[in-house]
Amino acid sequence: MRRDTRRRLVPWIALIGLVFAGEARAADLEAGRAKAKMCAACHGLDGLSKVADAPNLAGNGQLYLARQLEAFRSGERKHPQMTVIAAGLSDDDIAAVTAWYSAIKVKVQVPQ
Ligand code: HEC
Repeated sequence: MRRDTRRRLVPWIALIGLVFAGEARAADLEAGRAKAKMCAACHGLDGLSKVADAPNLAGNGQLYLARQLEAFRSGERKHPQMTVIAAGLSDDDIAAVTAWYSAIKVKVQVPQ
């Protein structure tokens, strides 16, 4: 391939990559939203805790959330409810549900 042809193709390849990345992200979010229904009673579909002993998940880093779920699943972190719930999650489920909760935007108001 000639050099100038190659140079002209680069932006198109980048654009196609972005479109696919966008679609993958949307698919992940959709799957994540569906998965999050099984978390909603305690963590809310919006990621805001609905029970006193469950933490907010909204807006946390995806890596952090995934590490916690993996730790529950492996038994490294233990909790009567979360250990059972995490045991039923596949790697894809964890990727999807953490994509959902980490994508939620949170606004904070610091006390004056
Ligand atoms: C029956 C209530 C309940 C349900 C349902 C539930 N959780 Fe939890 N979750 C908890 C509680 C309680 C904790 C706090 C555990 C602890 O104290 O160590 C927790 C902790 C977590 C944490 C660790 C957060 C942190 O900052 O340490 C993550 C991540 C999490 N849950 C994700 C999920 C996901 C994803 C689902 C659904 C697939 C889910 N949970 C379903 C009750 C629940």
